[in-house]
Amino acid sequence: MSDDQYESVSGNTRRNRCLYIVLGVVLICVLVVGVSLGLALSPKGVKSEILQRCETYKKLHPEVSSGNDCQKIWTAFEQAYVGRNSCDVPVENYDTLIRAVKQEIQCNKTLFWSKSKDLAHAFTEKRKCKMTLEDTLLGYMLDDLTWCSKPDSKETFSSNCPGWTDCEKNPVRSFWVRASANLAASTCGHASVLLSASVNPPYNQNSIFSSVEVQNLNHSILDSMAAYLVTDVTDKTNCNDASLVTLKNDLPPNVEFSCKEMPLSDFQMCLSDLDKPCLGCH
Ligand SMILES: *[C@@H]1O[C@H](CO)[C@@H](O)[C@H](O)[C@H]1NC(C)=O
Ligand SMILES: *[C@@H]1O[C@H](CO)[C@@H](O)[C@H](O)[C@H]1NC(C)=O
Repeated sequence: MSDDQYESVSGNTRRNRCLYIVLGVVLICVLVVGVSLGLALSPKGVKSEILQRCETYKKLHPEVSSGNDCQKIWTAFEQAYVGRNSCDVPVENYDTLIRAVKQEIQCNKTLFWSKSKDLAHAFTEKRKCKMTLEDTLLGYMLDDLTWCSKPDSKETFSSNCPGWTDCEKNPVRSFWVRASANLAASTCGHASVLLSASVNPPYNQNSIFSSVEVQNLNHSILDSMAAYLVTDVTDKTNCNDASLVTLKNDLPPNVEFSCKEMPLSDFQMCLSDLDKPCLGCH
């Protein structure tokens, strides 16, 4: 074997090895994309996830267990959007679902949030004296999920669905508007809202909190609303912010409003020291 041939053979071997590696990588990519696409498109994905969450919630909250049939809830949910254009799902289409879910909202417990979801959930995870929409059966089942269907289809998809702002009447947004309105209308006694001083304005009239929840509060059962403005060290916004005056004015006249600034460090203390009174929890 001459040096030239040797060169050429080992060159081929190297090229072949490269080719195998490239083919392998391509194959893995195809598999990963295929599997995730398959899972995302599979109608069973959303359905089994929702049913599983419903059963989990019932186990964790025995008080709602007997009144709620997860399969019936799924059917009521699905009929809101299945077979419809995914930009034409009216909010009222979820009325049947709202009626199918039986859960009493305890007075003094509701914690609304706006641009502070993670903080609110960190709080209610640790302290059961408050609950957000996502701590109710309805919110728990659908939190962070995406779903839609299409005309003449019986299926539920979880990909290629319109995003939150792509069109107003998308299945996900209409659901959260309906569910938020329902929670607000059922909120009694003393309500709280967690707002963030890091966003401007902390009370935004385009938010779901303002445009749906505040609008649906029932003044005959609600006494007060306490806003907690979580303030990080560099935040300049405080309870004198004009938007908080707007919030006070947006509330039904008999609902007493208060606002408290809460340093983020104090908020974090509330998560670690459960004996410390926080957000009206003792
Ligand atoms: C709600 O708070 C009010 C005033 O603090 C209290 O009188 C009432 O008993 C509370 N209701 C519940 C269900 O805890
Ligand atoms: C407000 O609550 C009262 C007392 O539960 C109820 O009779 C009334 O229908 C509610 N109003 C609305 C608009 O839901």
